[in-house]
This record gives sequence, structure tokens and C-alpha cells, in this order.
Amino acid sequence: MGVDMAAAQSVDAKALYQQHCASCHGAQRTGLMGPALLPESLERLRPAEATQVIAQGRPATQMPAFADQLGAAGVAALAAYIRTPVQPAPHWSDEEIRASRTFAEAPKDEPAQPLWHADPMNLFVVVEGGDHHVSLVDGDRFEVIARFASRFALHGGPKFSPDGRYVYFGSRDGWITKYDLWRLRVVAEVRAGLNMRNVAVSSDGRWVMAANYLPHTLALFDADLHLRQTYSAATLDGKTSSRVSAVYDAAPRKSFVVALKDIPELWEISYDPKAAPIFDGYVHDYKMGEAIAKPGFLGVHRTPLEEPLDDFFFDQSYRNVLGATRPKSGDGAATAQVVNLDARRKIADLPIAGMPHLGSGITFAWNGSTVLASPNLKGGTIDVIDMKTWKPVASIPTPGPGFFLRSHEATPYAWADSMMSPTAKDTLTIIDKATLKPVATVREPGKTLAHVEFTKDGKFALASVWEQDGALVVYDAATFKEVKRLPMCKPVGKYNVWNKITRSEGTSH
Ligand code: HEC
Repeated sequence: MGVDMAAAQSVDAKALYQQHCASCHGAQRTGLMGPALLPESLERLRPAEATQVIAQGRPATQMPAFADQLGAAGVAALAAYIRTPVQPAPHWSDEEIRASRTFAEAPKDEPAQPLWHADPMNLFVVVEGGDHHVSLVDGDRFEVIARFASRFALHGGPKFSPDGRYVYFGSRDGWITKYDLWRLRVVAEVRAGLNMRNVAVSSDGRWVMAANYLPHTLALFDADLHLRQTYSAATLDGKTSSRVSAVYDAAPRKSFVVALKDIPELWEISYDPKAAPIFDGYVHDYKMGEAIAKPGFLGVHRTPLEEPLDDFFFDQSYRNVLGATRPKSGDGAATAQVVNLDARRKIADLPIAGMPHLGSGITFAWNGSTVLASPNLKGGTIDVIDMKTWKPVASIPTPGPGFFLRSHEATPYAWADSMMSPTAKDTLTIIDKATLKPVATVREPGKTLAHVEFTKDGKFALASVWEQDGALVVYDAATFKEVKRLPMCKPVGKYNVWNKITRSEGTSH
């Protein structure tokens, strides 16, 4: 669009926003019926696409077209305006969290069994990002059991209750939805924050923790999404606060581990009622006196780091966190490190260059040891590292950089995508876990093919044709032949109940 920038700048974008957009996107831009329009929420939307959406609307959604009403200058002014921070910063208090909660009582005498006939342990939850829906797929017959609307922009990685009956979805705009997979209904919802990264569910099923970018908080809920407390993501002296990049459950430790984006600290929050008290003084500020202890249960245990982490992975013992720091500039180098949660310090540097995607790493036995394999967002290799020595053992070539790597205990292969590559995004590379060599590829010419998840028994690999008119493709995991395909609307992720609740080594946490 040839927009006259001077004309765009003379437009009172704030007034236009209040007049035309606030009714759906909220007076504070924090979302109502439409999604939040904040710099944090719009990170993934290219500027040209934002302009296009405002001008033309989004087909098949309630987002109207404004080109005629507002003209090119008005549209450009609004596209720029929604990228500016809201002043003063919107807040989201504990009272607002509590007030946002809805809960649907289970019908009386409801039997505790699925409404459908399939193995509840071999169910796939498929997130369809294209039109904000979720499909439940029978992992034996590969048929859709149910399909329902979700909140706007769910994050990958829904989390399951330990029995596999409930799933918790987290949305970009901060909503947590607890859904009953057996009875096919929403149990509870709450808005944990205004812009959220992810949620974690404790291994005992009692707690749900949300990691927020906005506000700078963690929010802890019970299993029915009653707020227990929020944590300010700040340094001990309260002077610096941070976005929260990620929270994961560390089952054997009975704790949540938290990465902070802007503060060089790694947090551990124990949900073990018998957790030892915390002495912050040892780590941070000797003047505070080492004798002042805080309760360990649900308290914040801080590990100081040299640099903040924004993506991490555990070893099988959950004693070590393998974390990556994103480069500060586009050309800078990422660094990766091993942090020991018991010693509460970095114990090794990880020899991975480029931009490792550790959150999507997998582990498997190799040559008498255990290795970590993880995709690299730069360069297009799979880095393989020995988890005893923390030394590299192989760098497996793929046709281009990818995002996800998946395997399963019962298959000799790992599957990697190259979805970040303009030329190889249509190719999955199948790697032999014994030789660490690529052995085959499957392709979906011209389309993006990504994100593999295995059936419970590891016999079939399901991949996404990651397009608006996309599909779920089922491959025989031994012959790599396609056995079935189901149409889906941009299926950004699929999650097998069994593999998730048993923490299969071949899938991410
Ligand atoms: C009638 C309600 C409504 C109005 C009025 C409205 N929007 Fe929207 N808007 C939506 C909905 C719903 C969506 C989500 C569409 C989807 O599902 O992809 C949306 C999506 C968007 C998106 C894409 C967000 C993303 O993350 O993908 C932008 C940008 C946007 N709207 C800007 C605006 C602006 C600017 C205005 C005012 C000029 C406006 N909208 C007015 C309902 C509305």
C-alpha cells in the first residue's frame, strides 16, 4: 500500500481506535470478544498482515474490513498504534483474575467415563490454529471424535491431568481453559494474565501454574482454577521485574521450574508440602542474614545465572536444566548452559552454536550413554550431545532449519521438520537413532509439513500439513508410508494423552 506517512501521522489513532475497535478489542486493548492488541500479542503477526487484516478483515471471523471507512492513512495509523505500549501499562490484579473465573458444575450422577468409544489413553488433542478449534482424534482408528471452538490463539503444549481425563489449554491472551475430554465440555476458565506464554500442571494434578509476559507475574491455581496466589516476577529487592518465558513441571522434584526473560535467575517453586525452607540470604544478599528462612512449600527458590534463559529442557533426573539464551541482536550468538538445580549454579556450557531450540529436544539411549538431540533454528542441523560429558557427539544434517523433533521409545527413528526453511519446509527428515544418520524423507511439496507426534505404541507418526486448508497425515512409523489423512485447519500441534502423561522421552514436556 502506498501510504502517505505524513497523512497517517496526522490521524488521531487513539480516537479512531476508541471509536471503531474498542468495542471488540477492549478500551485498554486487552481484548474482549476480539483478541488483545498489544505489542506482546502482536509479536508473531507480520506488520503487512496486520495492515491487511485491518483493511480487509479476516474472512469467516467477526473481524470486519475497515479500508472503506478509514482509508489507507487511517488503517496505517491504527496498525502502528496497536504496536505501541498501552500507557499506563494495563494491570491485571488478583481480584480481576478471580472475577474472570467461570465454572460449570458437573451434572449430578454423571458417570466417570468417556461419552465416546475409543482408548482414552491413545487420544490425540489436535490444536487447529487456523480457525481456533480443537479436534479430538482416536489414535487407533484415526477418526475425529469431537471438534470444538477454543480461545483465540492457543499456545502449543496443552497440559493433561495425571489421569488423562482433563486438558488445560493456555491462550495467548491469558485464558486457561480446563476441558473434560471424557464428557466433552468446558469445566472451568480463568484469565490468568493479559499476555501468557504457557501453563504447567503439577504431577500430582493439584496445581496449575501460568507464565505471563503481561503483567510480569506467575499465577498459581488449584485444579479447578481457583487462584491460590500470584508471584511478581521480580528480583529479591523488587527493583527489576521480568517477563516470564516459560514454566515446566519437574515431576520427580515436585516442583515448577521457571525461566525469566529479563532477569538472570532460574526459579524453582516446590509444591511438596514437606519442602525444606528457603534461605535467600545464601544466594543473594548476605546482609539480609542467613537465618531468615521462608517456607519452602510454594516459595520461590532462586538460582542466579549469568544470563537469562528463555527456553529449557530437563535431563531425565530433573537435576539439570539445559537452557538457551537467545542472542540479543539478530547476528549475535546464542549460548547454552547446564544449570544444576541442587547445586543451584551453572555446571557446564553446552557446545551448541546457532539458535538451539532446546524446548523441543528429545533424549534417547545411544552407545551406552544418553544423548540429547535438539533442532537448531539456525543452520538446519540436529545437535546431539552426550548427557554425561556434555560434549557434542554428532551434528545431523537436515535440508533446512526446523522447529520440532520427535521420537518414541518403541521406534528406532526420530523425525525432524525443516519448517523454518523457505525451500525445505515441506520435508520431514527421518533419522536413525542408532547411527545418527538421516535414512529417509517424506514430503508434502510446496506446503509446510511439521510437528510429529506418535501413537501410544509408537507404530504411527502423525504430522501436520501446517496450512489453512491443511491436514493431519498419519504415517506408518516403520515403512514411512502414508496410511490416512484428515483435513484440518492449520493444525499447529497434536498431543497424545499417553505419551504426555507418561512423559515419553520422545516428546517435549
Ligand atoms: C466486531 C468486532 C471487531 C471489531 C469492531 C474489530 N475487530 Fe479486530 N478482530 C476481531 C476478531 C474476532 C478478531 C480475531 C479474528 C480471528 O479469529 O482470526 C480480530 C482480529 C484482529 C487483528 C488480528 C490479531 C491477530 O493477532 O491475529 C487485528 C490486527 C485487528 N483485529 C485489529 C482491529 C482494529 C485496528 C480494529 C478497529 C479499526 C478492529 N480490529 C475492530 C473483532 C473485531
